[in-house]
Amino acid sequence: MITIPRLVIFTVAALFFARAGLAHSDENLAMNDPDKMAWTLFLEVNADAKTQENNNALFETWASDGDTFQPTPTWPVTANPLALKPRALSLTELRAHSAGGSAVEVVPGNKTGKNPAEETRRNRPAFDFIVANNLYKVSGLKAAYAANKKLSFPVDSIEVKANWVEVSELHEFNGFTGTLADAQELYHVNSVGDKHYALVAMHVISKVVPNWTWATFEHKDNPGRCDVFGCKDNFGAQPAAVAPISAVESKQHYPDCAKTPELTALFQQAKIDPAFTNYCLKGSQADFTDDTGLAIRLSNSVTEKGFVAQGSCMTCHGRAAFDDTGKMSSFAGFDSVSINLPGSGNAQVGPINPNWFWVPQNPPSMPMLAGDKNIVRIAQASDFVWSIPFCAIDDTANPPQTTSKFCSGK
Ligand code: HEC
Repeated sequence: MITIPRLVIFTVAALFFARAGLAHSDENLAMNDPDKMAWTLFLEVNADAKTQENNNALFETWASDGDTFQPTPTWPVTANPLALKPRALSLTELRAHSAGGSAVEVVPGNKTGKNPAEETRRNRPAFDFIVANNLYKVSGLKAAYAANKKLSFPVDSIEVKANWVEVSELHEFNGFTGTLADAQELYHVNSVGDKHYALVAMHVISKVVPNWTWATFEHKDNPGRCDVFGCKDNFGAQPAAVAPISAVESKQHYPDCAKTPELTALFQQAKIDPAFTNYCLKGSQADFTDDTGLAIRLSNSVTEKGFVAQGSCMTCHGRAAFDDTGKMSSFAGFDSVSINLPGSGNAQVGPINPNWFWVPQNPPSMPMLAGDKNIVRIAQASDFVWSIPFCAIDDTANPPQTTSKFCSGK
């Protein structure tokens, strides 16, 4: 008879219960402790991936919009320089679009300062999903509309949108006066040639829950970081909540987000550029409204500059959709692009409006009901991923596009 040593049984049992215990206490982290989830993802996407040529964090080795939205989407295999382009959603560009002009100028490594440069990166599961379903081109979107099948990214998908300011322009951005070496201690800095860029803002989303997890981070010295609706981090910051000093976007300076012992412990276990301790979680969003029906807002002072007050990650991304022609069904989630009031921008907050996706027929059903036969579909959701309708190349145009018109491959 084979006897299993007691120690083995004990160890196996202990491991089992330890895991079960952990799983239980962390159950549904994304919904029950979204701020902790946000930091867990932050440490994951920013894990050290530097080489002799660069100071890459892991996300910088992932596919950019430029790698994804092109005739032959290509997963990057060699050291991948920053994919910086002008911020896609700047009001100037939205105005240019409303005036019928070209929305975005393609300026690699863009002059930053007032308008920090931007890039989007997605991990392999997210990239593979877009490629396998032909969601990088208008012909694929037309086919997806016709197929009328709900699009749903794999649960291990992660996407990041990051904003950078050239170190030489940090002074103009927030009054920084140090040397490059000082900047490298204070910011995650990466370089293209002899240009050095400091990371100032970062959105991180993950598909661990059906409507994704939503979180945004800012460098502690970003001017106006907690303006309009404050900052909140129940896991990593003390104090957890910071009230806004200004009700409109401003250049106010906010105190550092001192880290809790719990977050400090996570940082100590992580292999990561130490400069990442200088970033704050501005907040995370796990639903469209609170339990009294009030719209929840979350937006970044850099990435959503100009429409922070109208920012809800989940609402605006819940509107990411395309129609039967394979084109986006709203311009980047804005109702009207003739924007003149700072802080307006006509972006929507609160629940997803069924009118974005359906037209009621006679007699109209109020409210619109799932499964109702009297409603006609006008848009297909792209599973909250805006870059799909925004960046898809138009291979149906004559001549076919090889780069996207709007997001310019950042
Ligand atoms: C008013 C609309 C709007 C709001 C509010 C908004 N976004 Fe976006 N977001 C976009 C659009 C449009 C794109 C694609 C173009 C681009 O990259 O700017 C995008 C791109 C992204 C991407 C790259 C992946 C993708 O979906 O294409 C991430 C990640 C992202 N946003 C996260 C967030 C987070 C987190 C928030 C809230 C803190 C947020 N966004 C708020 C409109 C919005």
